[in-house]
Amino acid sequence: MSVTNSGAEVVGEKKRGRLHKLLPWKKHKAQMKLTASPIAFEQYDPQTKSLLKQNFGVLNNLETVWPGGICLPSTYRDIADKVYHLPLRPSDVWVISFPKTGSTWTQELVWCVGNDCDLAKAKSLHMDVKFPLLEHWINSKGMMTKVIKQKGAKTTKMFTMLRHNPELMALAKNDTTQIMQQTPDNERRFVKTHIFFSLLPPRILDVCKIVYVTRNPKDTVVSYYHHNLLFKGLYEFRGDFKTFVELFMANTLPWCPYWENLRQAWSRKDHPNMCFLVYEDMKQDLAAAVRKVSDFLEKPMTEQQVVDLCDHLSFSSMSKNDKVNREVFRDVLMHENKSEKKFIRKGQIGDWKNYFDEDLNRRFDAWIAANSEGIDIQFQYE
Ligand code: A3P
Repeated sequence: MSVTNSGAEVVGEKKRGRLHKLLPWKKHKAQMKLTASPIAFEQYDPQTKSLLKQNFGVLNNLETVWPGGICLPSTYRDIADKVYHLPLRPSDVWVISFPKTGSTWTQELVWCVGNDCDLAKAKSLHMDVKFPLLEHWINSKGMMTKVIKQKGAKTTKMFTMLRHNPELMALAKNDTTQIMQQTPDNERRFVKTHIFFSLLPPRILDVCKIVYVTRNPKDTVVSYYHHNLLFKGLYEFRGDFKTFVELFMANTLPWCPYWENLRQAWSRKDHPNMCFLVYEDMKQDLAAAVRKVSDFLEKPMTEQQVVDLCDHLSFSSMSKNDKVNREVFRDVLMHENKSEKKFIRKGQIGDWKNYFDEDLNRRFDAWIAANSEGIDIQFQYE
C-alpha cells in the first residue's frame, strides 16, 4: 500500500487478490482499517486495463475510488481530500447527478430560480462560470498541461478561445474547490457534481440545498455514448455502441456506477434539503419542476415568470444558447465529424430504441432488474 499526495492510500498489488474476493462494501471496510482517510483508490486488474486501452484513445488512468466505488481518472487524487473537506455554506446550492441525465438543464433551471429569474444575467454568463463542475480539475489538469507543453502554446486554439472567454481561464487553471473558497461570503455558490455522496463532505445535506436529477438508464447510456464520441482530448472512445454499453454495465466508464450514484441519492431523497427530479417528468411537465424548485429554494415566482422560464429552458432555446450549449468549446474540444456533433443533442425520451437491438435490450433489462432493487422509480422509456 502506498500513500498518495492527497493523504489517501492506494490498495497495492498484493492486497488486491484478497480484496477482490470480498463484496464491494466489505472490500472498502477492509481498506478502511488500513487508512487514516476515508478515501481509497484501487487500480483495475490487468484485463480491465487492457480492455480500456483498446477502447479509449486517451487513457486517463481510470481507477476505482472508495467509498462508493466510482470510476474516475487518477487526477481525482489531487482533489479527493479537498472535496471531502470542502468548507460548506448554508447558502450553497448543488446539482448532483449521473452524467447525461439532464444536469445542464437542471443547472440552468436552478440557477435562474435561485437568481430571481434574471434571464438576462443567465444569458450573459457561461454555465461553467455560474455553476462550475466540482471535479472539473480531473479533466482540465490533463488538458491544460498538454496544451501548455505544446510548442507555441500561446497560438493554439485553446489559448485563443480562453483569451476570448477570460472568465473561463480561471476554470482552466484552478480546481473548483479553490474557486469556491474564493467566492465572497455574500455571494451564493452554485456547484454541480457527478461525485457520489460518499465522497462529498459528510455534512453536505445538513448544510446545503441539493437538487438531484436522474434519467432512465437506456437514454442515459445513449447520450453518454455520444458525449464520449464528441469530446476529444478527454477519453476519446473509439469502440462501438455495444462495447460502450458493456463498459457501462461493468461500471468501468468515468463516473460509473450509474446505480450507486442513484442509490445514494435515493436513500437521501426525503431529507428536507434534498429536491429529487426525474428527466422524463421534466420533459412531461417542466412548469411543475420549476415550481418544485421554486418552493424548495423558497424563491416565489409569478405565473409569468414560470412561463418565461419554461420558454428559456425549452430544448430549442437551450440548444441555441451559447452559454449552455458548449459551442464555445467547438474548435478546441469537439470532433467535427463524429457523433451527432452536439452537446445539447436530441433531448428525447426513447432515443435508445434507435441503438439497442433485441439481445442488448434483453441483457440491459436484466442488468436493470439486478441493480434497481429498492429504488422505487418507474422510469418512462418512451
Ligand atoms: P441527449 O444526448 O439525449 O440529447 P447532461 O447535461 O447531464 O450532460 O445531459 C445532457 C442531456 O440532456 C442531452 O441528452 C441533452 O440533449 C439533454 N438536454 C439538455 N437540455 C435539454 C432541454 N432543454 N430539454 C431536454 N433535454 C435537454
